[in-house]
Amino acid sequence: MKMWEGRFKKALDSKVNDFNSSLPFDCRLYHEDIQGSVAHARMLCKCGIIDPKDAEAICRTLKEIEQDLDSGKLLFDSDAEDIHMFVEQVLTERIGDTGKRLHTARSRNDQVALDTHLYLMRQFLEIKQLLISLISTIYEKASANTDTILPGYTHLQRAQPVTLAHYWLAYAQMFMRDVERMDDGYRHADRMPLGSCALAGTTYPIDRRYVAEQLGFSSIYENSMDGVSDRDFVVEMLSALSLVMTHLSRFSEEIILWCSSEFRFLELDDAYSTGSSIMPQKKNPDIAELVRGKTGRVIGDLTGFLTTLKGLPLAYNKDMQEDKEAVFDAIDTVKMCLQVFEPMLATCKVQKQNMADAASGGFINATDCADYLVRKGLPFRTAYKIVGGIVAYCIDQGKTFETLSLEEYKSFHEAFGEDVFKAVSLTACVSNRNSEGGPSPSSVEAQLSGVKAFLDAAKG
Ligand code: ARG
Repeated sequence: MKMWEGRFKKALDSKVNDFNSSLPFDCRLYHEDIQGSVAHARMLCKCGIIDPKDAEAICRTLKEIEQDLDSGKLLFDSDAEDIHMFVEQVLTERIGDTGKRLHTARSRNDQVALDTHLYLMRQFLEIKQLLISLISTIYEKASANTDTILPGYTHLQRAQPVTLAHYWLAYAQMFMRDVERMDDGYRHADRMPLGSCALAGTTYPIDRRYVAEQLGFSSIYENSMDGVSDRDFVVEMLSALSLVMTHLSRFSEEIILWCSSEFRFLELDDAYSTGSSIMPQKKNPDIAELVRGKTGRVIGDLTGFLTTLKGLPLAYNKDMQEDKEAVFDAIDTVKMCLQVFEPMLATCKVQKQNMADAASGGFINATDCADYLVRKGLPFRTAYKIVGGIVAYCIDQGKTFETLSLEEYKSFHEAFGEDVFKAVSLTACVSNRNSEGGPSPSSVEAQLSGVKAFLDAAKG
């Protein structure tokens, strides 16, 4: 029978019971639910709403229930509608009428909000740690590759030379912003909703700030209707996670390309790649592909829940129960992806020579050749046009900037001198790009120390 049986003449249809029940997925909130109930019971006692004796029995039994769930002695096998009903049901089975006092001055509406806040606060911190660990790995890989030259691309066409350190530090920056988004999300989740009750507060003399203090919240919801209907912090988690996945997905896409025979820039460790069931020669980047694939699903969790939320009138509506499967799925997916992506990156082998060959084969230094003429006094547009002519000539003759003779250079403009060869060499091209944030070794050193400072501060 249900808690609300007094009002009803019939039992709930069994299919409807399954349809309505969130216990199969919100059971993972049992720690938070019990933690919140213990704080609530203590507050009720402090405010003289329940007896100290009852409060003590309630808190002690709640902790026993938690231990029994931890150890597997107690199973979630009831037809309770959700985790809140389940815990209360077991409590009442164990201590009778005393257990029935716990739900005074509370509703499942503020209770579920509280549990979700507590759960997400913990998850914001855990995901932040996984991101920090990924950033450290990128930092290590970048530090080892400050002189590894490869082409930088635009439109996936070779554009200008960069170093691998510079390339991968771009991802470090993205994940650093993700860390900041975890902090922002935590800050918004760090607000205590209990005491909003069903929607309109309560007539009991409760102390909401005492509950907040016990649970480590910095503040409480200032409006009871907002307290029970706010799910912005869930959306913020989903949206921050969608961006984490988008970053991982772009990185994965490059890893997949770079492992192809067409690029051969990287080789994945055997422990992080798979074979084919039919083609013996294959070594597939399945991990990176799956990370890229799962990105769609996390973005789906975000758009799905935003769509659920957008039409809801205040205050609580059962639709809001849909937040859980979305956010649990997104959290589980992102954590799993980060846990496999990081060691895959840490163990991959960089094929430095292939990167260097790709950078030297073409006309990746064309801009530098034009810049050379500018240094000799020509306007950039004029220099650009002359170098365009040299590229066309080289393509016809099967030559490159490195293999042209000085005479050939001079036939395009008399300003060319012997020093052009040094100017178009890849190392010079990279080291001359020493603007702040550029790929030159000195600029990359500055970036590395920025990342290091971020990591040191984040690790505290
Ligand atoms: N299982 C519900 C949820 O996750 C808990 C709150 C239910 N409240 C209610 N009045 N039906 O949203």
